[in-house]
Amino acid sequence: MTKPTFYITTPIYYPNDTLHIGHSYTTVAADALARYKRLRGYDVMYLTGTDEHGQKIQQRAKQAGKDVMEFLDEIIAWIRDLWDRLDISYDDFIRTTEPRHTKVVEDIFERLIAQGDIYLDAYEGWYCTPCESFWLERDLKDGKCPDCGREVNFVREPSYFFRMSKYVDRLLQYYEENPDFIQPESRKNEMINNFIKPGLQDLCVSRTSFDWGVHVRSNPKHVVYVWLDALTNYITAIGYGSDNPEERAKFERYWPANVHFVGKEIVRFHVIYWPIILMALGLPLPKKVYGHGFLLMKDGKMSKSKGNVIDPKLLIERYGSDAIRYFLLREIPFGQDGVFTPDSLVERLNYDLANDLGNLVHRTAAMIHRFNRGVIPHPGSYQTPDIELRDLALQVVKDVEAHLDEMQFSLALTDIWKVVRQANKYIDDTAPWSLHKQGDVERLNTVLYTMAEVIRMIAVQIQPFLPRTGVEILRRYQVAPAAREWSSLYKFGELEAGVVVELGEPLFPRLDIAEELAALADLTGKKAGVGSSSNTAGQTAKTSEKESQKVTETAQANAESKSLIGIDTFSQVELRVGQIQSAERIEGADKLLKLQVDLGSEVRQIVSGIAKHFTPESLVGQRVVVVTNLKPVKLRGVQSNGMILAASEGDTLKLVTVPEGLPNGAIVK
Ligand code: MSP
Repeated sequence: MTKPTFYITTPIYYPNDTLHIGHSYTTVAADALARYKRLRGYDVMYLTGTDEHGQKIQQRAKQAGKDVMEFLDEIIAWIRDLWDRLDISYDDFIRTTEPRHTKVVEDIFERLIAQGDIYLDAYEGWYCTPCESFWLERDLKDGKCPDCGREVNFVREPSYFFRMSKYVDRLLQYYEENPDFIQPESRKNEMINNFIKPGLQDLCVSRTSFDWGVHVRSNPKHVVYVWLDALTNYITAIGYGSDNPEERAKFERYWPANVHFVGKEIVRFHVIYWPIILMALGLPLPKKVYGHGFLLMKDGKMSKSKGNVIDPKLLIERYGSDAIRYFLLREIPFGQDGVFTPDSLVERLNYDLANDLGNLVHRTAAMIHRFNRGVIPHPGSYQTPDIELRDLALQVVKDVEAHLDEMQFSLALTDIWKVVRQANKYIDDTAPWSLHKQGDVERLNTVLYTMAEVIRMIAVQIQPFLPRTGVEILRRYQVAPAAREWSSLYKFGELEAGVVVELGEPLFPRLDIAEELAALADLTGKKAGVGSSSNTAGQTAKTSEKESQKVTETAQANAESKSLIGIDTFSQVELRVGQIQSAERIEGADKLLKLQVDLGSEVRQIVSGIAKHFTPESLVGQRVVVVTNLKPVKLRGVQSNGMILAASEGDTLKLVTVPEGLPNGAIVK
């Protein structure tokens, strides 16, 4: 019988630099799903790779004094090594510089020109020579480059465009007929309201101002512009357009993809442009695009320039890949943003892994050794506590399946840990040491077997998330191949009795919190907020951490004594820099304006009561401070997702604006 297929992809990463822990997040999540599907009997194709064309890559290679391919090869080797260290079980790794990709992109481009979907026109815009950036009229700041403030020149560059508008109705129909296509649901409305309803522009798909890319065969001055090149990796990697019949058969087998995992800022390209390109090629559309949230640092987005990124390899070296995978998948609900804090990492590792899981596995093996010479005993008749634990374990299998169908990794792990915690409690309640003392061998055997069997069920289920730990537990408990399969989870009692359990070392060490916080502060290149005068040479980061805590506590105590709010309360408000892209009046509401505000990673619709003070035109381009974590509300039937700040005196109202040099989305604190 042929296995059903499951094709899952990650975005292809820009190799202009090494990757950070945020990039690892998508890849770990996709890996957990790929492993889970394999366990469920699917023939999985898990694809990842690198997006290697474009001006930026060319520039970075030049800065490094390297030939572009030499520069890329080094970074790609670094990335593949990272995936190896994180136990990423990808089936293929596509590089967009490979001939299997470039040749097909050339073919596709020619075909789309011949079909009339791609046409030659001109790209018009303002060009800043020092920044090598194009800007639209509305992006300019007082007629100057919004990044550096210097003069810009109007340029017209011949470009090919993709006729997107032709396919919009079919796209909307696809959304309608496939309500699960865009996940989470909220991203769908954002796409329709922000990009489709205002009128979908044709997409510029070639450039002549740089040459590091796939050249258009019939007009080689043009280089295929990034998204058309990048998105097609999902089909070229599995043999679309290949001359090799075996490769083409692979395409027939795996396409359409079951799910593309992407970060929320690139959902737009995957749910609008990509489906339209596929429609033009007459190909079926992917079944799902899942736009996950960002892994943020306390001070906002990760970025090398902020110095807040953590090298994932250093984390893996210190804690092991399973621990990092567990943290990423457990801590951040997939689809939402989550904050990486050293405290939460250390807590998860100490409580969930060392205390709960590690302890359960180790103490059970130790008791089997102490009370039964290491041999897993045959159970006698089950009593209420055993049955309760058994039923919970069986129920949780169903819950985990349901959550993984929805790609809710954190909920699936929460389910499994319910069993882990309950099993620890079961040991405390049934007290095998007392049964041993009383000489109640039959009852003791049943309890020991129940403990070991529940551990087997946990180990099978954690394999997609913590592959090393899962396999290690199964090995220690000598679990036979059939009892490692997912289908073995539907029946309690599949663990073989009579075999010897290996005691082994604790699976996860208990960490010294202060030491780890100091080490993590070091890894992020930051010494927890202590001024240079007190940070004398030789002082350990651990001391600095404590001191900074003391300073914060004193400041908080002072604030509280005056009945002011503490920093904790203030830090619940998320403020970001935004730029107003468009503003319009709302019919029947003379005080309200509907704004679209660019927050860097997304465009938000905000309804603001400022219509009496500003004309819509005067607001476009203004850089403002936005409260971004307010609950959405409807004002006069129009959804508002945030608030912009303004200051007033009497009848005068002025927007709180932001100086040059900060990107949209920057945290205000
Ligand atoms: N090359 C494009 C994707 C083309 S796909 C056909 C690209 N590359 S990227 O390297 O900039 O980003 C790759 C992915 O990493 C994106 O999905 C992005 O959202 C994700 N992440 C980058 N930083 C992240 C976090 N801090 N947290 C979670 N994901 C993050 O875009």
